[in-house]
Amino acid sequence: MKKRIAFIIALLLPLLAQAAQDGIPQIVPAPRKMEMGKGSFNMKGVSINCDPAIDHRALRAIRLLADRLTLASGKLSEVASPVGLHRTMEKGKLKGLYFIQDKDIVAEGYRLSVTPQAAVVRASDFSGFFYALQTIRQMLPVAVYANKPSHAERWRIPCCEIEDAPRFGYRGLLLDCCRHFFSIDEVKKVIDVMAMFKLNRLHWHLTEDQGWRIEIDKYPKLTEIGAFRDYTIIKRDLNSNDGIRHGGYYTKEQIRDIVAYAQDRGITIIPEVDMPGHMVAALASYPELGCAGSQPQPYKVLCCWGVSKQVLNVGKESTMKFLEDVCDEVADLFPGEYFNIGGDECPRDEWKTDPDCQAKIKELGLVSDEKASAEARLQNYVTARMQKFLATKGKKIIGWDEILEGELAEGATVMSWRGTKGGIEAASKGFDVIMSPNTYCYIDHCQSEDLESEPYCISTKPSRAVTLTKLYHYEPYDGFPESDRHHILGVQANLWTEFIGTNEYLEYMLLPRLMAMSEVQWCAPANKDYARFLKSLEQHELSILDLLGYNYRMPDELKK
Ligand code: ACM
Repeated sequence: MKKRIAFIIALLLPLLAQAAQDGIPQIVPAPRKMEMGKGSFNMKGVSINCDPAIDHRALRAIRLLADRLTLASGKLSEVASPVGLHRTMEKGKLKGLYFIQDKDIVAEGYRLSVTPQAAVVRASDFSGFFYALQTIRQMLPVAVYANKPSHAERWRIPCCEIEDAPRFGYRGLLLDCCRHFFSIDEVKKVIDVMAMFKLNRLHWHLTEDQGWRIEIDKYPKLTEIGAFRDYTIIKRDLNSNDGIRHGGYYTKEQIRDIVAYAQDRGITIIPEVDMPGHMVAALASYPELGCAGSQPQPYKVLCCWGVSKQVLNVGKESTMKFLEDVCDEVADLFPGEYFNIGGDECPRDEWKTDPDCQAKIKELGLVSDEKASAEARLQNYVTARMQKFLATKGKKIIGWDEILEGELAEGATVMSWRGTKGGIEAASKGFDVIMSPNTYCYIDHCQSEDLESEPYCISTKPSRAVTLTKLYHYEPYDGFPESDRHHILGVQANLWTEFIGTNEYLEYMLLPRLMAMSEVQWCAPANKDYARFLKSLEQHELSILDLLGYNYRMPDELKK
């Protein structure tokens, strides 16, 4: 008897799985509006019809889905751009999958209408089409993500009406490739998973005390010397030494390749050249950029963590020329509108005694008052000069919230990292802000308050943990008066890598917190639901990560 029941259950299981699939799709981030209909639409061998007006990148992404479907389902899906498409649409005789250019759809938004006969996607830009494709992929069996046949699956998506668009235009992730170097293929894998969950900005941290990662023609020593450190300390022990030379950098050709790769996935890469602090790798390469009396000497690419007192000598015109030259070459590689000039954690001790810096302070008439020191105003001068220079390259600047100290010129965007107060203050002064408070958005922090149970990381107190649920429940508007909220461009998760030395650990820290972040960035508060999000991970999204070979941390709530 037991055997017979087990046999019947075994027969029913695929049907039950299919019922779940035909039911409410598990989409992350959750669409703005989704109404389910009756029945489903067969995507196996579907003919795909594209409006001739849609852009070539969208067409490429659609062809990629067609190829995947063809391979996985074993039946050819062809893509065509028929001239008479709009006439067919008017007649209402639709059969197949359609992609239609529609100027009435908001930027990055899309509409997806699925009936048993046809599925129609409407969008006004590449991103909208791309996100519709991500949604469709999430509605299909996970095997669509694999690059191989999977004949056993039923390739149907449920009938529905979806109207979707993001809450925030800036949906970022910071990747620190300086504290530890990650290969181009590893960075691409991060870009792939960002694209799946509809993030659109990669803030690439490329210069640091512990390593310079981008080739600069005018200053070859930045990568000959600055890209390598002799060893790395173990955890936080300043007297330890792992005995392994560490480093690497990206050539200009590799950067161009990755910029294009990201563009094809709807992601703009924003480079960060962190200045005037966090520059020890540059100082080790060109000691003449440093301050008089800087100790210890000679400068060495740092092998330990923390904030260095060794900073650029910005009183010298030649140092400013160096910054302009570097930013000139970097800006040419990244076509986006923003450039991040860092500005965080710059101790000004050396400037207090350096004759060039003091002469510059005098020349500029900078004074100390209750608002800011003369040295803080010297940093304002650097920020303003770089802002002006980058404007000539068509770029707007973003900087960490320290750039607010003293004066900040109009047009700068402030990235709030020391909690939310920097963002709130910046918005009250009329600056645009990107929210990345370390309390919620720092995904180098531990994922559990039980620090001992997790791999070694930057958190030293349980209260500093950024658990999946904590990150998920971050509300960017909190603390902002309604009148200032329009200044919030978006939200960003930051993945610093002091203690993250392998790709496996990088992915463990990234996932699934990146997916929680995607709902913070994409969904209106009323559309967020942690229980639904967890269910989606359990029933669908984690299987995608498994299939694609990503490492991730199993959420506590889903641990068996
Ligand atoms: C930062 O975490 N120092 C921006």
